[in-house]
Amino acid sequence: MRVEITVNGRPHEREVEPRLLLVHFLRDLLSLTGTHVGCDTTSCGACTVLLDGVAVKSCTVLAAQADGCEVTTVEGLGGPDGLSPVQEGFRQCHGLQCGYCTPGMVMAATALLAERPDPSEQEIRDGLKGNMCRCTGYQMIVESVQWAAANGGAR
Ligand code: FES
Ligand code: FES
Repeated sequence: MRVEITVNGRPHEREVEPRLLLVHFLRDLLSLTGTHVGCDTTSCGACTVLLDGVAVKSCTVLAAQADGCEVTTVEGLGGPDGLSPVQEGFRQCHGLQCGYCTPGMVMAATALLAERPDPSEQEIRDGLKGNMCRCTGYQMIVESVQWAAANGGAR
């Protein structure tokens, strides 16, 4: 089947298997490998992207379901002028160690701040509870999101 998916502002039309997952569409067909696969079973959140502005686990969405939609991956944040506030927050507050969970955390945090520009600590923890990190203990991630909220939010 043929799908047309706009990714980070650019339309991509491809012939795909109906069973192809969105994460594999992004990684294998578009070479956007910033979206990670940690579990493939909807558990870890490493594959989180924005689908029409909503954070989704792209290992749980078929490329066919994203047909006609807009997808934002971690490569679509920031730009030539610098990192997005959430990306910068992770840098400033040391919100990562190995970095494997980080693209998913950044996308989930971006969606959270778009919905709630000034979240409480508990709202941040609730907003990120679908994303697992084996390294940081989460505290620095929460602080990274707080930094982002105070410095531009979901931009
Ligand atoms: S790879 Fe999608 S939730 Fe873990
Ligand atoms: S920084 Fe290693 S899994 Fe989160």
